[in-house]
Amino acid sequence: MAPSLMGKPQQRPGVSRRDLLRGAAGALAVTPWLIACGGDGGQAPGSGAMFSHGVASADPLADRVIPWTHVTPVDYGPMPVDWQIATDVDFDAVVAEGSAIAEPARDHTVKMDATGLTPDTVYYYRFLAAGTRSATGRTRTLPVGDTEGVRLAAVSCASLPHGFFSAYRRIAERDDLNAVVHFGDYIYEYGNDPATEGDWPLRRDAGLQDYYEWMPIRVTDPADRRVAYRRFRFGDLVGLSMLETRLLARSEPVGQADAGDINDPARQLLDDAQFDWLRAGLQDSRTRWRLLGQQVMMGQLRLAGLPELMQLPLPELDRLLGQVPLVGTGGVLLNPDQWDGYRAARQRLFELFAETGNVVVLTGDIHTSWAMDLQPDPFPITGDLFGGPPVGVEFVVPSITSPGLPQLQPARQLIRVNNPHIRYVDLAEHGYVIVDVDAQRVEAQWWYVDDILGLASGERLGATIHTEHGTNRLATA
Ligand SMILES: [Fe+2]
Repeated sequence: MAPSLMGKPQQRPGVSRRDLLRGAAGALAVTPWLIACGGDGGQAPGSGAMFSHGVASADPLADRVIPWTHVTPVDYGPMPVDWQIATDVDFDAVVAEGSAIAEPARDHTVKMDATGLTPDTVYYYRFLAAGTRSATGRTRTLPVGDTEGVRLAAVSCASLPHGFFSAYRRIAERDDLNAVVHFGDYIYEYGNDPATEGDWPLRRDAGLQDYYEWMPIRVTDPADRRVAYRRFRFGDLVGLSMLETRLLARSEPVGQADAGDINDPARQLLDDAQFDWLRAGLQDSRTRWRLLGQQVMMGQLRLAGLPELMQLPLPELDRLLGQVPLVGTGGVLLNPDQWDGYRAARQRLFELFAETGNVVVLTGDIHTSWAMDLQPDPFPITGDLFGGPPVGVEFVVPSITSPGLPQLQPARQLIRVNNPHIRYVDLAEHGYVIVDVDAQRVEAQWWYVDDILGLASGERLGATIHTEHGTNRLATA
């Protein structure tokens, strides 16, 4: 449901337009251990230069990864920066190092594709500028060949005005992860007055520029930076395809006036080029599981008949559901910004899933937690009795802090009754999902923090649900 869902944080005074555009693009990154694990905080008294935005790394492959930092310069000019990668936290065993220039034209951000690394290995990295040393980051390359297990943390939607990012802290404390997968909304930007936001292509291009400057990701297509979809392979166990569903091909969500168009085959979230790329990835027989990462809930969600929802006054409903209002069509109420608003496009995907098997869709950006079977028609009463068996499963991750729908938490059972393919729903909690993969099953664990208003909240396990290889549906246990 994109950055459109639920409450909007207010713009802070003194935040520049450039700051606001940061993170506006909705593409995705695989971010191994995003948060730095130590160091001196990145400041040396008297040096002037600072690493006050910390360090990060992302887009790991078997032999490379992209470390990133931002230098707060002594003056506004170019700033020389050295970088190091080592196999130990004390940097006694440096395996790669080099120099770069933090240019004003790149907002004094620095990143490089550090190559020549060893598969499935933990590395530490840091930057040095003007006598100042950055915090130390921790990262890990992807495994190759025979791979027994892969463990990912999956996250999305971190809004500082709504709370502290304790979930990131809990993830950073773990040492058993291959990578953190982020589905977007790393940060939020909102104008004070949407009438004044300005020209869309201009904002999109500025957002893309900031996205590639401020995210440690690889450029997939220098000719078109909207092409952010890419694939990661974890040995012979997992192929992870990360989709781009916002900028390249998305048809505008329907409104009530054209709600009947949700069946129009011309309505798309993926263009043919991305679909063909995805098909090639899913048909790759070298990996046992096919994971998809994306930002739009794929399984059906019918909301009609929820008394708590129906009793809300319209302004409150609008506030809860954001810029894309629900539409009623064919006797059901649905959110047209999900794949529910692109039915023909979803059917094309489901046919592909049925062909390849063992597909697990990972989704964020809806600020709530879900687990469901993906099924062409899961509604045996109102739909086609012979809609066919499930073709895969979907696990949806909660937000780090962005508001969910706690007011509707009492309606969870009714949602499940109305949507028999949905096996788990939580509308109030915040946290992350551990995706634990081995040859036999993919298990999702929903970990929830106790209090997003606490600086270092504890956490608890909310639910554990899995799918067995070869079944294409959630297990009943
Ligand atoms: Fe969000």
